[in-house]
Amino acid sequence: MASFTLNFPKDFRWGTATAAHQVEGNNIHNQWWVWEQTAGNIEGGDRSGPACNWWEDAEADFDRMVELNLNAHRLSIEWSRIEPVEGHFDKDALQRYHDMLLGLRKRGIEPMVTLHHFTNPHWLDEGGGWTNAEYVLPRFRRFVEHTVRALDDVCDLWCTINEPNVFAVMTYMGERMPPAPAPDFGRTLRVFCNLVAAHIQAAAIIREVQPRARIGIAHHMRVFQGMRPNHILDAVAARAQDMLFNQSILSSLLNGQWHWTLRRYAPNIKLSRGSLDWIGLNYYTRQATRFRRDQAASGFGSIENFPGTAMSDYEYGEIYPAGLLTMLKRLNKAKLPVYITENGLPDHDDDQRPGFLIAHLREVWKAIQYCYDVRGYYHWSFVDNFEWSEGWRMKFGLYSLDPQTQLRELRRSGALYGEIARSSSITDDMVRRYAPKLMDTVFR
Ligand code: FCB
Repeated sequence: MASFTLNFPKDFRWGTATAAHQVEGNNIHNQWWVWEQTAGNIEGGDRSGPACNWWEDAEADFDRMVELNLNAHRLSIEWSRIEPVEGHFDKDALQRYHDMLLGLRKRGIEPMVTLHHFTNPHWLDEGGGWTNAEYVLPRFRRFVEHTVRALDDVCDLWCTINEPNVFAVMTYMGERMPPAPAPDFGRTLRVFCNLVAAHIQAAAIIREVQPRARIGIAHHMRVFQGMRPNHILDAVAARAQDMLFNQSILSSLLNGQWHWTLRRYAPNIKLSRGSLDWIGLNYYTRQATRFRRDQAASGFGSIENFPGTAMSDYEYGEIYPAGLLTMLKRLNKAKLPVYITENGLPDHDDDQRPGFLIAHLREVWKAIQYCYDVRGYYHWSFVDNFEWSEGWRMKFGLYSLDPQTQLRELRRSGALYGEIARSSSITDDMVRRYAPKLMDTVFR
């Protein structure tokens, strides 16, 4: 019988992604810790607590990564550990990160370091957080400079900011992230701009400190489509959402000019081109947009799901692999290397994840056949972790975790990912064993 294989480049990065607050434990100096203490803010009253115990022993999971044949991992640095009090930098915290990154390298795992992943030192939020450019920009720049100098010999792959669009929308419009003020469209777009400016300034200082640095950003993109076929207003609203959410930030960065949707809100800072050496894509799902006259702030559209489609746990999102290729195609126009810096789903019983992995990686494989410069894939996430306002209920890990006992167990999807990483390929034998229902479609 003929056998089929999807081969990936030999030097392809097979990794996982995590964020400091979600895995380290006891990040007591940031805005999330404070927020978690109030009932009603987090699903089920959950708290991050000791999280996945990474501050004490991330190395135990790094060993597990070796068992899964991973050659890359994306993690983030917690600003509030490095600078718990404004202007006071904690040498021990920097040393701990240095140890972690060295630990990854020694295991043959290339680290990618994110400098801002949703959390702020509590003092920064007290001072207005990301709403005021004059306040936040010099402070972020100083933190970045300090951190990059200290970690210069163990990292050169930097991701300045994680999902500026999600952070701004969830905080200033969605009431899902602290301090969750009353929704304010103008303020949200002002924060978009301040994050763009922060990236540009961070990139400049990183290049100065470390000329060999490769700098990127992790950009969250969702497919927006009109709910009703041939309904022109649904389509227009979906376009508006796409422009604001998917395009405005990236276009400002790539063109070195504020996107027209942001101009009104931009600080008095000149943008420049060339701040990105690569683009990180965080891709999860597709959304259905229904025109709503009363929802100006969300592009005159509601955000819904298409009925009858495959959904992950808690209706987190539709499983829509084709959208990954759609986004890679769009990004290809920028002619920069792309890393898929996040992709995954909540699936506590792991009945969907093996098929999810195969179907999404097949889209990545197609992109590579089209000669799009896709360099790596970082699955979200290595181990179940503290999922922000969703608490512990959403299980994104290749390993399951009982946060009480800290016991982990490899899920079937984890074993599959390990096999894929080992051979840098997906074989028909893997598909037959892990997701037999896909046999008819994967190799077509
Ligand atoms: C992304 C975040 C990440 C995690 C996943 C599920 O938007 O960057 O921290 O919460 O979603």
